[in-house]
Amino acid sequence: MASIASAPHLPSIGSHARQEAGNQLQATLVELADLALIGKQLHWSVVGALFRPLHLQLDELVDAWRDLSDTVAERAVAIGFWPDGQSSAITAASGLRQLERGPLQDHAVVRELTTRLAEIAERVRERIDRLGELDIGSQDVLIEVVRALEEQLWMIRAQLSTDRGS
Ligand SMILES: [Fe+2]
Repeated sequence: MASIASAPHLPSIGSHARQEAGNQLQATLVELADLALIGKQLHWSVVGALFRPLHLQLDELVDAWRDLSDTVAERAVAIGFWPDGQSSAITAASGLRQLERGPLQDHAVVRELTTRLAEIAERVRERIDRLGELDIGSQDVLIEVVRALEEQLWMIRAQLSTDRGS
């Protein structure tokens, strides 16, 4: 199935740039979708004194990642690239380390979360550079993503410092 649309009235960027920008958006989409799945898993797995704030915060984060993934996917469609956010696409391309099943202490949850968030924020940052030459609209979307992820990272990291004294 073709990933590039051929309808009229597409943004005036070449088909190569369209495909390349779409690839960058697609890669981000599957990572955000995977992050939302992992966030839910952590929401169910957290135990310890910080259960309640983390349990609640994780649902807020999952909502934010789902919203961001929607924005990313819809930018792809807007430039004529068909995104794929299905489980098979996530499994094939996300590359995020999966969690062990079972209880996870609150401080371990914070660590698992910050590791993955930092990894994705770094990958998105690299894509922002590449998108500057391809499509500034898509670049703007990924700037929004990285800004949100880095803000979340700061807020979660702040908890880690308080809890562990590091
Ligand atoms: Fe829940």
